[in-house]
Amino acid sequence: MSTSEPAAGGISDQDRTIPDDVEFDDLLAVARAIAERAYTPYSHFRVGAAGLTEDGRLVRGCNVENAGYGVTLCAECGMISELIAGGGGKLRRFVCVGGDEQLTREERVVVMPCGRCRQLLSEHAAPDLVILTPEGPRGMDAVLPQAFGPADLLP
Ligand code: THU
Repeated sequence: MSTSEPAAGGISDQDRTIPDDVEFDDLLAVARAIAERAYTPYSHFRVGAAGLTEDGRLVRGCNVENAGYGVTLCAECGMISELIAGGGGKLRRFVCVGGDEQLTREERVVVMPCGRCRQLLSEHAAPDLVILTPEGPRGMDAVLPQAFGPADLLP
């Protein structure tokens, strides 16, 4: 029995083998391609996000900045919007890449989603979601421990 229990019915990272599989090669290519379309006149930092749903759909997004800096949309926001607009479902793989706009597509590296976007991912994560991080593949639990979620809203 593991000592670190997941918050909401998932399997803790310690209890399962996180696959480091070929699907991430495809997702990385999708994330790097969509990062090319980012609108980043202020930070010049392009981000591309890509996810694979349980029913096999690819969803993606890029960051869209705004002169009102706080209005900026992270790449993950666009990706989650595409997920829901495309019929919903849960994510089983996710990766995002980032880097200065002067980098080539292939030079963009895996980056962690910001805190707000970890919360977004948590809402739409399959129980076995695997996120490719700079330290390797990780489960949602490792990326956002003790996440606040729908169960917390129950009376
Ligand atoms: N950004 C994302 O798109 N996703 C994240 O998870 C982290 C940050 C964007 C927002 C902004 O356009 C730029 O990266 C620099 O913060």
